[in-house]
Amino acid sequence: MPFLWNVFRVVVFVLALLPFLWLLYGAAVGSLGADPADALALETGRWSLRFLLISLAITPLRELTGLNRLIRLRRMLGLFALFYASLHLLVYLMFLLEWRWSEILEDIAQRPYITVGFLAFLILVALGATSTKGMVRRLGKRWKRLHRLVYLAAGLALLHLLWILQQDLTDVVIYGSITALLMGYRLYRAAWLRRFLRQRFPARTGLH
Ligand code: HEM
Repeated sequence: MPFLWNVFRVVVFVLALLPFLWLLYGAAVGSLGADPADALALETGRWSLRFLLISLAITPLRELTGLNRLIRLRRMLGLFALFYASLHLLVYLMFLLEWRWSEILEDIAQRPYITVGFLAFLILVALGATSTKGMVRRLGKRWKRLHRLVYLAAGLALLHLLWILQQDLTDVVIYGSITALLMGYRLYRAAWLRRFLRQRFPARTGLH
């Protein structure tokens, strides 16, 4: 079983890398359409959001299927969200801003969709940097609290998307519904767990 599991993890890793390879190929052969820089910005942003949501889906999936090993994929998928967000930022700096460093702060301050995108990115960096086993151990209980910020990152990314796609809200509704469903599940589970602990250990939990 451990062998099959390792093969599965490698398959997930390769699948998660495919959009990047596809974009690299598209850029090399010139098949990204009339505005390749825009296509790269949109696709890297979309894949970052998708991986963020996929990583958020791992805990519910694990709880509903009982496949506890799935939890080990959560970090990898979360890091892929950060990877695509970093590419997204790189494309923005390289092609849209053309390395005009002086304009970055101006952009962040004056364009709200850049401000929220940047905040979401900073949260992803903080979560990525504290995702190692050592940091989990070192931060103890604070680790869980810090990593709840992943929902804030998803919310900010949705706001970013809402600002960009003001004309057509289909995607915002789709991604927003998935996020709401995942958040709703976690809130429901947290309430259920509190109720369960209160009934089982009223004196010890102090939750009565
Ligand atoms: C690092 C800071 C960020 C900057 C500077 C930034 C900037 C941009 C820009 C310039 C666009 C293209 C807008 C257009 O061509 O009309 C874009 C699109 C997008 N961004 Fe970001 N972004 C950032 C962070 C993020 C993050 C963290 C996510 C997701 C987790 C994200 C998700 C998206 C998505 C999904 C789109 C595509 C919208 C569409 O499909 O049209 N962005 N972003």
